[in-house]
Amino acid sequence: MAPSLSLSYDEPLFVERGEGQYLFDHEGNKYLDAINNISHVGHCHPRVVEAAYEQNKLLNTNTRYLHESILDYASNLIDKLPDNLTTCFFTNSGSESNDLALRIARLYNNSKESIVMSGAYHGHTNSLIDISPYKFFGSGGSGKKDFVHVVPMPDEFAGEHLDNESIFGDYYITALKDKIDKIKRDGKKLAFFIIEPIMGCGGQVIIPSDFMKEAFVLVKEAGGLFIVDEVQIGFGRIGTHFWGFEMSGVQPDIVTLGKSIGNGHPLSAVITTKHIAETFNNGMEYFNSFGGNPVSCKIGQSVLDIIEEEELQNNAQEAGKYLLNGLNLLQQKNSLIGDVRGRGLFIGVEIIKNNYKLSPDATVADKIVNALRQKRVLISSDGPNHNVLKIKPPMVFNIQDADYLLESLEAVLKKIIR
Ligand SMILES: Cc1ncc(COP(=O)(O)O)c(C=O)c1O
Repeated sequence: MAPSLSLSYDEPLFVERGEGQYLFDHEGNKYLDAINNISHVGHCHPRVVEAAYEQNKLLNTNTRYLHESILDYASNLIDKLPDNLTTCFFTNSGSESNDLALRIARLYNNSKESIVMSGAYHGHTNSLIDISPYKFFGSGGSGKKDFVHVVPMPDEFAGEHLDNESIFGDYYITALKDKIDKIKRDGKKLAFFIIEPIMGCGGQVIIPSDFMKEAFVLVKEAGGLFIVDEVQIGFGRIGTHFWGFEMSGVQPDIVTLGKSIGNGHPLSAVITTKHIAETFNNGMEYFNSFGGNPVSCKIGQSVLDIIEEEELQNNAQEAGKYLLNGLNLLQQKNSLIGDVRGRGLFIGVEIIKNNYKLSPDATVADKIVNALRQKRVLISSDGPNHNVLKIKPPMVFNIQDADYLLESLEAVLKKIIR
């Protein structure tokens, strides 16, 4: 195995089985999985397994043959999106979706000029490392390319502009405007702006609605495409809405989907307008050996059905609210917790040095993650300073699970403070 692969936890986990929101190790021990958002409707959901099995028995080919599964699925997927987003490309990973979105936007505007959010991660291909400050400014990264323009993340807790809250919004939107103006001054054209409505690797930071709305207007005025990366948070995870961009009401030009869309099966999608998709149809065929195959489409459809029938968006809202509330109470009692934020079942807990707001504590965050693993609760840490505890469980996570997580976290924090 390649040495650049990593394993979670100081004592890595040898898992053999998954069921719902639980994982079981080789000795049969049960773990509460509060991190694997990919297993959206629960590990090994019998209906997803059944959908894969039934279609595998019949046929699995590619999109060069007519098949009803892709049409049914595409049509049900776009029903969940705003009216302008009508055209689907199916792919096999979040990275593949974002890479394709970049090709589409760059061809549309005949430009490579890209605006991205600081701390963002959009995938592991060459093109995406180039637009992921999380990677190109991170360990082993080789810096920013000239065609990439980074705007500061409007992070209300630890962002770069905190001294005057009343001008918080202006500061970040002006930074975006400056980048757009610079591109114009250099005689170039903006290809796209890409954003996650809640930043994942950026530290579970909720992008303020005003920023989303104003950014949308600025990007559109400049002729750029507004790409929303829903790979982490789509499909009802945030509880109040099915998609993250719906929190602000903007209508993106391109939406990229991944992870939870296939509940662990390698499925992903790019959805855009008919007009943009037609521009991409410039004579070069788009062929994808696996994207949109009948087995993937049946699996994707089963995930959509389960979210609806098991009311998982509502569960994310209820269980998420309960967990956030519990974490807020814990914050009041605990000087190591600087901030608790999130929506639905996408939550971040910022760990700091004893009440000192702008002093991120990655070492303690790591200790907490490992101590929780010993208590059989699985989470991780992330963010630009590696000090944000990430909680994003399968959507079947319930109130009892939230209680167990809260009790375990409280016990771990007590021990660390002592
Ligand atoms: C926001 C975001 N976009 C894209 C990706 C890439 O997805 P994948 O790992 O499926 O290639 C990730 C992966 O973590 C992600 O967090």
